[in-house]
Formats: sequence, structure tokens, C-alpha cells
Amino acid sequence: MTHARVSGTGGYLPEAILTNADLERLVDTTDEWIVERTGIRMRHVAAPGETTSDLALQASLRALDAAGLHAHDLDMILVATTTPDQIFPSTACLLQAKLGVGGCPAFDIQAVCSGFVYAVATADQFIRGGQCRHVLVVGAETLSRITDYSDRGNSILWGDGAGAVVLSAAKEPGVISTHLHADGAHRSLLEVPAGVSRTDVTDDKIRMEGRAVFKMAVNTLDQIVDETLAHNGIAKSELDWLVPHQANIRIIQATAKKLAMSMDQVVVTVDTHGNTSAASIPLALDVAVRDGRIRAGDLILTEAFGGGFTWGAALIRM
Ligand code: COA
Repeated sequence: MTHARVSGTGGYLPEAILTNADLERLVDTTDEWIVERTGIRMRHVAAPGETTSDLALQASLRALDAAGLHAHDLDMILVATTTPDQIFPSTACLLQAKLGVGGCPAFDIQAVCSGFVYAVATADQFIRGGQCRHVLVVGAETLSRITDYSDRGNSILWGDGAGAVVLSAAKEPGVISTHLHADGAHRSLLEVPAGVSRTDVTDDKIRMEGRAVFKMAVNTLDQIVDETLAHNGIAKSELDWLVPHQANIRIIQATAKKLAMSMDQVVVTVDTHGNTSAASIPLALDVAVRDGRIRAGDLILTEAFGGGFTWGAALIRM
């Protein structure tokens, strides 16, 4: 039986930093309010002209290097993003061109903040089915481009960045199970209304009902965590690490509490990255792999909730 195993991780954050003090100059807010309600102190912002595929490229090169692979070795390229460089070609195709390797399939996955979990699940299927040996799975975002910096209700949350993993065929799991869900009934709670076929306006920004999204996120993550543990017949205590989507420290703390995990077992980057949507889990994973916290053999649970709504989880043996 073939499984998908993480063979390398990489991350990239654009150079410019937007602090809470910077936001105080843009909207009626305070550093104290933002830290207390979200846990965020700063976030990175892409430079003018720096695109999602540029960030994805840097993260991908680092993940390939960590895996000891060359881009030519890839059998598939997946990019989870909600902020593609352009309507088409897909950001995955643009990334493929930047990596200089034509031929293998490349496509985007749009599941907003759950995009990386959706992409891992997709890559896992292709590897377990024997069609791919090495799949590059990227989460990359330039959310600053769709952020309304006059809206204090959500502009404080978002950041730019990219994270990548290479999933490779292996005899031992790897990706143990993935669990994906969606419910399209709540569009108005979290959306960018502008679109290609619905309107001809394409410079719209994120709109969000923060409190309602918060409640849905906590309840939904509660359920997906139970579903994942029950499916695998494992106890909470068997988990070594929680690598959650980095939306808000209070949402992360609620999931950790549910899992009876100490915050020492939770990888938190929301304080310095903000919410980077599809990029947040692979970025957090890369941070904890590189600083030596997450080691080979550790059992990690990743989970995410995002616009759509979409949500999902993956149980992974590193
Ligand atoms: N600075 C200061 N005050 C702010 C503010 C800001 N940046 N944003 C909102 N407020 C005010 C509100 O106007 C409101 O004032 P009022 O009581 O006078 O009406 C008060 O703070 C409380 O607003 P509320 O929206 O209830 O705050 P909250 O505790 O729910 O925090 C969020 C707001 C957005 C931080 C929080 O709801 C959240 O994180 N939600 C989840 C969002 C998320 O994770 N989305 C992505 C999912 S992937």
C-alpha cells in the first residue's frame, strides 16, 4: 500500500511588515484591542508588483530543497489560493512556469482558508492511487490586495505569505486521513462579492460578519476534531501537535481546550503572520519543523475553517 508522506516543508513571508501601530494610523483601533481579540501583533504585506505566485515560488523552492528534490521530480503542482495572480491561467500554472518545469498537471484549489487541507486531501488521493510520486502542495495568498484598510472589523486580521509541502509516496503513512466539508448557505457572512460572472466589478474587498463567523468556526472545528479522532480510533492524548489554521488566537485556544492540549503543543504563528488564509497551516508547519519542535514520527492534527463555508482536517504522521 502506498501512502503520502511529507518529505519537505518551506515558507516565505514578504519583507514589509504592517504592525498594529501602523493600523492605528489607518482606522479607529488600538494595539491593545487587536491583541486581546485576535492575538495578532503584526502581519506581512506583499510589495507592489509582488504576486501570489512569487511568494509561492520562494516557499516551493525551500520545500523542494528540504525534500532533496528538484522541480523536475514533481508529478503534480497544487496551489490553494483565494488571491490568484489573475483570473487565468491558474496560479499553479504560473508557479510551474517560474519553476521551469512544464508537463505535469498543475491547478488551483479554491476553498479559502481551508484550501491547504483540501489540497493535501487531493494530493493524498493521487499519491495513494499510484498516479503521482511527488506532489507540490502550496498555500499562497496576497490578502492585502482584497483588504479594505478602512474597515476595522476585518482589516486587522489579514496577512500575506506562502507555505509549501512536498508530499511523496512512501510505504508508511504519512497522511493518515483527511476530512473535508462545505456548506454554501452562509455566503453573506464572509465574502468578496465581486466576481467574474456575477458582476463586472473586480476591485471589491473582503466583507465579514466577525462575530457570526467566530461562532461558526469554533463550533465547526469542534466537530471536525471529533470526526477525525473517531474515524481513526485515536485518543486526544495520542496527538503530539495541533497545527491549526491561524485565524484568531481565541479560536485556536478553543480547539486546544477541546483537545485537552496545552498551548505548548499548539503551533501558533497568528501573532506575527496574521491570518494568511490558505498559507497559514503550511507556514506554521514549516516554522515548527525548522525550529525543531515537530520531528519525524510526530502525530499532528491540522484543521481549518474558512469562507464558503469550508472546513476540514488532516491527521498526519510526520
Ligand atoms: N478596533 C476596535 N474596536 C473594534 C474593532 C477594532 N479593530 N473592530 C470592531 N470593533 C468594535 C465593534 O465596533 C464593536 O463595538 P460596539 O460594541 O460599540 O458595537 C466591538 O468592537 C465588538 O465587536 P465584535 O465584532 O463583537 O468584536 P469581536 O470580539 O467579535 O472581535 C473579530 C471581532 C473580527 C476579531 C472576531 O469576531 C473574529 O476574529 N471573528 C472571526 C473572524 C475570522 O477568523 N475570520 C476568518 C475565518 S477563516
